[in-house]
Amino acid sequence: MRLVFVGPPASGKGTQAKVVCAKYGIAQISTGDMLRAAKKEGRLPADLVTRMAQGALVPDEVVIGLIAGRTLEPDAAAGFLLDGFPRTAPQATALDDLLGSRSQKLDAVLSLTVPRELLIERAVLRRTDKRTGQIYHLKYSPPPPGAELEHRADDHEDIVTKRLDTYEAMTAELLPYYEKMGILRVVDGVGGVEEVTARVLGALGR
Ligand code: AP5
Repeated sequence: MRLVFVGPPASGKGTQAKVVCAKYGIAQISTGDMLRAAKKEGRLPADLVTRMAQGALVPDEVVIGLIAGRTLEPDAAAGFLLDGFPRTAPQATALDDLLGSRSQKLDAVLSLTVPRELLIERAVLRRTDKRTGQIYHLKYSPPPPGAELEHRADDHEDIVTKRLDTYEAMTAELLPYYEKMGILRVVDGVGGVEEVTARVLGALGR
């Protein structure tokens, strides 16, 4: 199974992707996580660190290169869920070309919708355990005692607002692209995590 999660910042893509991937035994591939890991290891060029911190996208060719390599790794052989890629029309076209060259195709693109005020609250109060990668929320899913929490540099309200603006400008072209292909499934992302998971699985018809 090959899936894509599209959705604004903090809409719950990462949270839902972990559940779906565990259920179907497919690889979760998050370009945001890959870029943050590269930054932590000092492998991300300074100009890209700045772009991410400012809430801007990194260039298409960077993320397309990451996806081309990562989707060939053994854990992706049974399928994968792309979380946060593609985000632009050129990325979507590059993904189609890449999969086409391997005689593969996408099964579904899930778009999570959440109102803007809720997205800001979800992002600003998000914390991640740096040892396990588990995502928490200080109000909705509080971390256990002893968790080693990180607050993302781009989760401060002014930057979240910029990321939301960037997303809105980008999806204007992306969602119709997948709608035309007949593989777009729009999922209401408001409600408890398990409630949203049930909607996601329902949209996948599984
Ligand atoms: P990326 O890491 O992909 O960020 P994003 O798309 O903005 O998404 P987030 O990780 O912020 O949120 P999410 O939807 O995964 O939500 P989560 O599950 O954590 O990208 C970061 C940056 O990298 C970009 O700005 C860009 O610079 C660069 N980049 C990445 N990909 C790129 C690409 N393709 N092209 C160019 N640049 C790229 O949930 C959020 C919070 O809400 C958590 O606290 C969670 O606990 C909580 N929560 C989740 N679900 C619920 C629920 N149902 N109810 C209550 N709380 C919930």
